[in-house]
Amino acid sequence: MKTFKFKIPPKTTALLKKIGQLADERGEAAYAVGGFVRDLFLRRPGVDIDITVEGDGLTFAEKLAKITGSEVEAFTRFGTSIVVIPGFGKVDVATARTESYDHPGALPSVKKGGIIQDLYRRDFTLNAMALSLSPGYFLKLLDPFGGLGDLKRGRIRALHPKSFEDDPTRLFRAVRFEQRFGKRIEEKTERWLLSSVKGNYIQKVSGERLRNELRLIFQEPRPEKAVWRLDELGVLPHIHSALGVSAAAKKDLPHVAPAIGFFHKNKMVLEEERMVWFQTLLLSPGEKEAASLSKRLMLSRVEQNIVSQSAKAYPAFLKELSEKDLTASQMYKLLCPLRPEVQCFLMAAASPLLRKKLASYFVKIQKSVPWVRGKDLQTMGIPPGFRYSFILLEALNGQLDGKFKNRPQALEWVKKTFVS
Ligand code: CTP
Repeated sequence: MKTFKFKIPPKTTALLKKIGQLADERGEAAYAVGGFVRDLFLRRPGVDIDITVEGDGLTFAEKLAKITGSEVEAFTRFGTSIVVIPGFGKVDVATARTESYDHPGALPSVKKGGIIQDLYRRDFTLNAMALSLSPGYFLKLLDPFGGLGDLKRGRIRALHPKSFEDDPTRLFRAVRFEQRFGKRIEEKTERWLLSSVKGNYIQKVSGERLRNELRLIFQEPRPEKAVWRLDELGVLPHIHSALGVSAAAKKDLPHVAPAIGFFHKNKMVLEEERMVWFQTLLLSPGEKEAASLSKRLMLSRVEQNIVSQSAKAYPAFLKELSEKDLTASQMYKLLCPLRPEVQCFLMAAASPLLRKKLASYFVKIQKSVPWVRGKDLQTMGIPPGFRYSFILLEALNGQLDGKFKNRPQALEWVKKTFVS
């Protein structure tokens, strides 16, 4: 076992030593594993620590919480506990285990095992390394599958041919890591991946897990390459027939990040920013297909709303917006009811000329504060009722189209037109 010099903050080192010591006292062995170890070698230290204990992870987590003055926040069905240490962060503690899958895409059944078995059940060699925390072996590397060599050679390699069959979500992880770390899926691994795609194992995965994987991909800094790759590997139609990357979407992709940047710069909030990216995968589905896609991926209400608005607006609105010379109020009528995530996607998908027009619309028109309000109508003695919304809309249209120059002029026009 080789020891490495890592750049680890002193308080993390102190905590790792404490964990190793606690395990030793209990006659167990503890290891730092998974993404934490990988990221140390990549010099991009994360905050969360993954610990595997050869022994009883659940009791170990309780003891660890006790000696660090913290609490065990959660248990999962796989015997993993999360200890949240004040002023530090999350420590995931798991019992070393083997996994078996009843059928592809199912959640695994688990059995206690040793550290090597625990590493073997993992997705890729770069995630299958462990650092011993035992006193005397502190930070010695356990790398039975050549993860460090793969990390250096820049390749993402699965541990065995059935890896993607067992857990098809790993193909999304492969694509995500490929883009995040600038590495490449190794040839044989890609063959295994493609054969699992052909075998249609993705269909067996629950909507919730698929949605989570897509969310994670779209949370990466620049997901466009991952979108290309998912398309290249033929993954998307296996999730749902409404998904794919059309020729138009390929053209739109480079404009998505700048459109999101424009929205940020102008303080237009994108509550579900990743859904701007998701729309690049929609093959202009009809209403029924959009609804079936939302059901398959168990999308949230907001996400469903975005998919259904986008399906209606794209490309119909773009055509209307670019073909006719629309007035500001006509643009407002088309665009204002759409969620910002859909507006942002339309901006990415627009022609350069239309994009300019949309940029000016978003900044100058959509942000306009109406000059005439309900209170003004009341003051004029107009009886409240359904006429109000009509009058207010007409007044706003006049304002947007430059019919009046200021609020007094707008009020004057309302008085003249609607008060007899
Ligand atoms: N893992 C796996 N198969 C999966 C998910 C996870 O083998 N489908 C293993 C990997 O060894 C991974 C570890 O569980 O390193 C922890 O998983 P997770 O926290 O989801 O991933 P990270 O590798 O830490 O990635 P990220 O940096 O994106 O959180």
